[in-house]
Amino acid sequence: MRVLVVGSGGREHALCWALAASPLVDEVICAPGNAGIAAEAECVPVAAEDVAGLVALARRRDIDLVVVGPEAPLVQGLVDRLQETGIRAFGPTKAAARLEGSKAFAKEFCRRHGIPTARGRVFTREQGEQARAYIRRLKAPVVVKADGLAGGKGVVVAERVEEALEALDGCFAGRFGEAGWRVIVEERLYGREVSVFALSDGEHLLFLGDAQDHKRAFDGDRGPNTGGMGAFSPSPRLDPELRAAIQSRIIEPAIAGLRREGTPFCGILYAGLMLTDDGPKLLEFNVRFGDPEAQVILPRLRTDFGQLVLGAVEGQLRHMDARFGEQTALTVVMASRGYPGDYVKETEIRGLADLAGEEEVLVFHAGTRRDERGRLLAVGGRVLNVTGLGRDLEEARRRAYAAIARIDWPEGFYRRDIGLVPE
Ligand code: AMP
Ligand code: GLY
Repeated sequence: MRVLVVGSGGREHALCWALAASPLVDEVICAPGNAGIAAEAECVPVAAEDVAGLVALARRRDIDLVVVGPEAPLVQGLVDRLQETGIRAFGPTKAAARLEGSKAFAKEFCRRHGIPTARGRVFTREQGEQARAYIRRLKAPVVVKADGLAGGKGVVVAERVEEALEALDGCFAGRFGEAGWRVIVEERLYGREVSVFALSDGEHLLFLGDAQDHKRAFDGDRGPNTGGMGAFSPSPRLDPELRAAIQSRIIEPAIAGLRREGTPFCGILYAGLMLTDDGPKLLEFNVRFGDPEAQVILPRLRTDFGQLVLGAVEGQLRHMDARFGEQTALTVVMASRGYPGDYVKETEIRGLADLAGEEEVLVFHAGTRRDERGRLLAVGGRVLNVTGLGRDLEEARRRAYAAIARIDWPEGFYRRDIGLVPE
């Protein structure tokens, strides 16, 4: 089977790596890919948001299956366009992707299907006064969220009412463009966060691991929010009982709900959860793998990923099982200095070749490219994901950081406390 993977981050490198290892996969092509992906797959310069370009590429190259990494093309309807052309695609349709593409849709969906989440309401730009009154009624702390995709910047957990009102004004004034024309105001939840993944063919689902990530830029959870500076899997915060509760109260009702509403979900459903005193509650649904969570979940997977993806697309998951090894995986993200703000570009990275044969260490690339002289250059905010595997969190952590110590990249930075979090 010839597979096209869409995207260019560490998540897509992990997807290409897992698919290239599948006996069912003869060839992996990636659009647009990066310098690390180029070792597993042929990279073709078509952007992940270029829906027409991707459909044309899939036709031209006679692709049997397209695997979509990031959310933007899913929300734009890439899977629908591919299916109309008769090309199989792994990932939800535009209608099912609203679970991530619209937080207002997700909030109302949770209400319709009894999925536990923070108490809250949705307001349009015309309802500014009602929104302000609601914020004053809920009192601080209170959470204000832009409805649409805002690159992880659309959520404000406000400590004061004024801060919440400011966030509301920002959304309605166009800070996030159309994505902020509707706003969700909700109560703040307290507890520990965890991410749970499931694979679905629209009807059946398989548990696809759990993870904890580190969203803030700097050690000690300080600094601005980022796409994620590191992650590990499995999460010690979950036991089999809690996993089962999350599956039956949150994941299963979501998959069943989408199916009943006529928009079945094929792909990876990612539930961002808060473990509250009142049980697990949903913070957000995403309709794709996490980045960097994929970089710790896929290396632990013992079932052939190609077979699972094909099983999902063909509606065969009821006959399948996703097995994981006993190991813990931990990944540390190396980013260009300045990220998530303006960061340095085109700086050289050395020392990666030495790590190639290293036991229990995997390096997944994100923003990298090779120049004409074969030098490896950092060209993005998040640049490398150094994953260590071990018997436990401590061993995985030690291996990841020992590998990082051998990478020579003075213009890069990373958190030193990945995996050091309170129980
Ligand atoms: P979201 O994109 O909705 O997951 O929000 C991003 C982050 O904001 C989450 O990972 C949480 O840390 C935080 N957050 C979102 N909603 C709430 C809430 N209701 N209470 C507390 N924290 C929240
Ligand atoms: N690491 C968070 C995300 O992928 O959304």
